[in-house]
Amino acid sequence: MEKRGSFGSKLGIVLATAGSAVGLGNVWRFSTEVGANGGAAFILIYIACVVFLGVPLIVAEFVIGRHTHKNTADAYKELAPHSPWVLQGYLGVLTAWIILCYYSVVSGWTLKYLVSSIANQVTTVEDSAAYFIHFTSNPWMPVLYMVLVMLLSHLIIIRGVQGGIEKFSKVMMPLLLLIIAVMVVCSFSMPGTEEGLRFLLLPDFSKINPNVFLSAMGQAFFSLSVGMGCLCTYASYFTDDSKLMKTAGSVALIDTMVAIMSGFIIFPAVFSVANVAPDAGPGLVFITLPNVFQMAFADVPIVGWLFAVFFYLLLLLAALTSMISIHEPVTAFLLERFGFTRRNATRIVTAACIVVGVLCSMSFGPLSDVHIIKDMSFFESFDFLSAKILMPIGGIIVALFAGWKLDRKMVYDEITNHGTLHSWTFPIFMFLIKWVAPLAIGLIFFNELGFFK
Ligand code: TRP
Repeated sequence: MEKRGSFGSKLGIVLATAGSAVGLGNVWRFSTEVGANGGAAFILIYIACVVFLGVPLIVAEFVIGRHTHKNTADAYKELAPHSPWVLQGYLGVLTAWIILCYYSVVSGWTLKYLVSSIANQVTTVEDSAAYFIHFTSNPWMPVLYMVLVMLLSHLIIIRGVQGGIEKFSKVMMPLLLLIIAVMVVCSFSMPGTEEGLRFLLLPDFSKINPNVFLSAMGQAFFSLSVGMGCLCTYASYFTDDSKLMKTAGSVALIDTMVAIMSGFIIFPAVFSVANVAPDAGPGLVFITLPNVFQMAFADVPIVGWLFAVFFYLLLLLAALTSMISIHEPVTAFLLERFGFTRRNATRIVTAACIVVGVLCSMSFGPLSDVHIIKDMSFFESFDFLSAKILMPIGGIIVALFAGWKLDRKMVYDEITNHGTLHSWTFPIFMFLIKWVAPLAIGLIFFNELGFFK
């Protein structure tokens, strides 16, 4: 059996965990949701969801992981042996694997767009929608890029917790934050950005309806990586002197700032090119933005080129630090439960994800007519199953487990590091995790399933 990994420093812990949270969700999914749900008002509700639901859930997963120092499945097994709670551990591993299979497809697109923007293709095409569809519907090209990003993540994971995950995150996260800051400044300096800023800053409360609440909550969970054992696995590598509340707060803050800043990159640019709608849907990042880069910098194409290259580089880095965090829970499970070496455990997970990832990738091409759940393709079924079904269920179970099942004293000891840290946040945390989180998530879940229609 190999010695169990551990993060080396507090900074490493925050950056690796923030690396998990900051991903395609912050840029690709967040901007789509903000566009579709009316801007500033959505952002306010989103922030409330992060603070009142997201942070308590992060802390709950941290408590479970750091207390046991085990992979998710074994953590639940240790804390509640021979009980149905154990299933949550397996559910986490399964959900992680499902997410990885389709997340790697979109990460692959990002790599392709980075390569093409360096080759100056993205901002020079006539019709960026046709370009996108031409690429994603090709049977082999997207598969190739998906396999490439899977291999990148493989190479990081195989190096272990400190030498792989932590080291990579410590270099990539500061770089990513720097790129974002530079891009926000560039985006602000474009002409005609006031309208974009108004869209992001002045809430229009007439746009709020129950669905906006539910979208905001779903987005918050996805973006913070909660509900499927990913944070629990990372926390199992935390050192015993790390501060769980503070780490959760920092991660939530970084994640939310990146999401909002990417809004500041995307929307002023979108509005400054007047004929592009802000609610352009999931294609925003791959179809609308190339147009925006092209038009906004028509006089100085080199700036448009730079903007595109940096943007897709940023997206790829964010995607990679998240991919490794979805890869690791499954790898850690195989490694610790079945005694594989890290190398072999990683190989199995990578191979299993590539096989199924191919099906997800081909959902946009040769397999577009193959329906798995209802009329959804492989890709859509995987997305639906994980984000809409398994993650909310996982979130409710984590909240109930931490709030009702775990020994209150043990939770207190973890959060306050055995009474050595201040404890005024503890009762607030307990209230949120016991009552607010399960009820609120239950509401999203049953609404998504159409129970209140
Ligand atoms: N949070 C990441 C993002 O914003 C994606 C992610 C990583 C994730 N780990 C997760 C989503 C676990 C759900 C569950 O892109």
